[in-house]
Amino acid sequence: MHAHIEAARPSDTDRVLDLLTRNRLPVDGLREHLATTTIARDETGEIVGSAALELYADGALLRSVAVAPQWQGRGLGHALTDAAIRLARDRHVPAIYLLTTTAERFFPQFGFERIERADVPPSVQTSVEFTSACPSSATVMRKSLEGTTMPRYTVRPATLDDLGALTDIYNHYVVNTAITFDLRPFTVAERRPWFDDHAESGPHRLLAAIDSGNSCVGYATTGRWRPKAAYDTTVEASVYCRPDVRGTGCGSALYSALFECLAREDVETIVAGVSLPNPASIALHERFGFRSVGVFTAVGRKFDKLWDVEWFQRPLRLPG
Ligand SMILES: CC(C)(COP(=O)(O)OP(=O)(O)OC[C@H]1O[C@@H](n2cnc3c(N)ncnc32)[C@H](O)[C@@H]1OP(=O)(O)O)[C@@H](O)C(=O)NCCC(=O)NCCS
Repeated sequence: MHAHIEAARPSDTDRVLDLLTRNRLPVDGLREHLATTTIARDETGEIVGSAALELYADGALLRSVAVAPQWQGRGLGHALTDAAIRLARDRHVPAIYLLTTTAERFFPQFGFERIERADVPPSVQTSVEFTSACPSSATVMRKSLEGTTMPRYTVRPATLDDLGALTDIYNHYVVNTAITFDLRPFTVAERRPWFDDHAESGPHRLLAAIDSGNSCVGYATTGRWRPKAAYDTTVEASVYCRPDVRGTGCGSALYSALFECLAREDVETIVAGVSLPNPASIALHERFGFRSVGVFTAVGRKFDKLWDVEWFQRPLRLPG
């Protein structure tokens, strides 16, 4: 069973409010902002998650980030928060604010920082959430989007000097998500054999994305898919970006460079497995010409739950 992240429709209003009420979150004033509310819908059409963005003159308010109990711990909160941040970027919002009484430790991974209530701009302070819905003792957080709309990444072959950053990026997803099925984080030394499986030529590459401050913020790889020799012409792609740069074009920059590097190699087919749900990864793969070939159900067990994996493939050379 998986869930899709999508924009809420007017007919969803009552069910979104019901989800929030069940999660003990305030619902006052939310009806007016349904057009900028993102939801997660399961295969039966049930709403199992929400994240609302209220747009004001000097910033946006993120509220109502909720996931139904049976879906918690499966990455939906991340996907919904990412989607709300993307929406704010698309609307050229300078900063996102939020109030929370329970999730102060969830939001910093997206770049939210604690601030004083007085530092919230007046238009956001007029929201119902600020004026009445949330207790005055709630933590106030802010994520600035200024200057982050068009970051530029340099993509180059990864070097051993990058291995610490590459390991940290991967370990974040190992520890906090079921995006990857490794269960324990790696030390840098333990990650070395993986690094050594890639080269600066041939079908198995490891590219790093470097930001303007010279930090390694993401990587993409191709590697062997299955051991038997006839599979030599197929590679499996994967890509990981540091959590705070997701949705800023880092994954796209990496995949563009990776597939360009492979263009002259003896590769026919690229495959990728995406554990569900992961709307950002699915969007990235579809953008780069991958098509879904089906879902393997219940193939991984992590956090005491079974996870499905959707498989994608594309020819190295896309037609046309
Ligand atoms: C998946 C991942 C690599 C994508 O890279 P990214 O830098 O976040 O994505 P980009 O900004 O380059 O956007 C690529 C496409 O995905 C879409 N997208 C990005 N985040 C999205 C989200 N949360 N929901 C829906 N679509 C999203 C973008 O709109 C874009 O599509 P478009 O060109 O049609 O607009 C990145 O989010 C990541 O590292 N996630 C965690 C690790 C992971 O899931 N790796 C893949 C394992 S299979």
